[in-house]
Amino acid sequence: MSRLVIVSNRVTVPEPGHPPPPGGLAVAVHAALKSRPGLWFGWSGKIDDGPAVEPQTVERDNVTYVVTDLSTGDYNEYYTGFANRVLWPILHYRVDLAEFNRSDLGGYLRVNALFADHLAKLLKPDDVIWVHDYHLMPLARELRSRGFNNPIGFFLHIPCPPADLLFTIPKQEQTIGALSHYDLVGFQTENDRNNYGRYLAMSGGHQGRDGTSYAVDGRVVRIGAFPVGIETADLAAVAAETVDSGFTRELRDSLQGRKLVVGVDRLDYSKGIVHRVEGYRHFLEHEANWRNRVTYLQVTPKSRSEIPEYGDMSDDVNRLVSEVNGQFGEAAWTPIRYINRSYPREALAGVFRIAAAALVTPLRDGMNLVAKEYVASQDPADPGVLLLSQFAGAAAELDAALIVNPHETEGMAQALRTALEMPLDERQARFASMFERISRQDIDRWAETFLAKLSETRRSFLIGQLR
Ligand code: G6P
Repeated sequence: MSRLVIVSNRVTVPEPGHPPPPGGLAVAVHAALKSRPGLWFGWSGKIDDGPAVEPQTVERDNVTYVVTDLSTGDYNEYYTGFANRVLWPILHYRVDLAEFNRSDLGGYLRVNALFADHLAKLLKPDDVIWVHDYHLMPLARELRSRGFNNPIGFFLHIPCPPADLLFTIPKQEQTIGALSHYDLVGFQTENDRNNYGRYLAMSGGHQGRDGTSYAVDGRVVRIGAFPVGIETADLAAVAAETVDSGFTRELRDSLQGRKLVVGVDRLDYSKGIVHRVEGYRHFLEHEANWRNRVTYLQVTPKSRSEIPEYGDMSDDVNRLVSEVNGQFGEAAWTPIRYINRSYPREALAGVFRIAAAALVTPLRDGMNLVAKEYVASQDPADPGVLLLSQFAGAAAELDAALIVNPHETEGMAQALRTALEMPLDERQARFASMFERISRQDIDRWAETFLAKLSETRRSFLIGQLR
């Protein structure tokens, strides 16, 4: 088996006893590396302005982690500046929030070249290279220019908007356009894939007869949809066990018979937390008989706090949550419990299992693994109900959820009532259909399918070159 070399911006070396950092990418990559010899390269999460040092290597559970620090300039320009204030908002359809300047783009390209320099010292000829997410779009071009002929694939964990929005990225040919240097580019949904296909066609690419490959400036890139999954069977077992843990019992006791509604998201404007709380407020206003019979727990670890748009959004959520608690709360009942921290996966599985409903209502999301984790954690005999935004990638698969439009407050409130009052047989039928789907399309299937397609694509490209 070839070695799998994963590259992503943030590398999370697992620490015993510490919860993994939030975010779908880390969850997916850890699971993909479980059954293969592998190396994971990327940023340590630390800033260091001292003299340049070689990346650090740590071995853990058969995986070699190689991590490098970033300088303050690299962090500001590449990570905060271009990746998170240009690519993140635009790819989430929020051109209005994008803040572009040329030095940030310069930093983005510079760090991609730096990553390629580090990787050049680590790579072997038969390694398969799999690059993850929007921070590293130009990396294949950098590696090819250093003479690497390995299969190189890319997976975009976040949405890919329509071509007209992609063209708003200044100098888009150097970033989103540079994806054409990969052998295979994977997206979360068919919709994302089609948006990128249209972008390639509008940028002068020629679609091949197979419909999935495009010839761009003498190169061939294949594109496909590979919806990311979770470790479904494992999580279901963990949830069944955790339900008896002290943590879950304490939470259940604290509810005093009230139903639990849960939301778990990084504190990010794409997650629609303000819209969600508005929906809950509307529910409490108009469904008076539900007051004091339901508790909404919103678990929201802080994220990218140094970026002004995130700080603004955090203020908005704080204000709104305290307004709703002030308006409806009673001496012995807090309508919303709002927590800015993360919990270990086991603890969350227990929370999901006892929650009567989950609110997964992003304004835009590549996939949203919380939706799948909630379903996997349910008790099949008495499952809860998932409210899912039509704008999450997961909605393409989990069509048995209550699909909601987060922009429509009344519709969300109504769906919450439907969820809390749904008869057992309907809950079971919806759960069974979704559980079957996420069991079939789990995380192992995702990694296997992508990697098989990548090897096949590189082989046919090399044969094509020989002809
Ligand atoms: C999302 C992105 C990941 C990112 C994660 C956490 O899931 O797709 O690439 O790692 O958020 O964000 P952060 O900026 O803290 O790495």
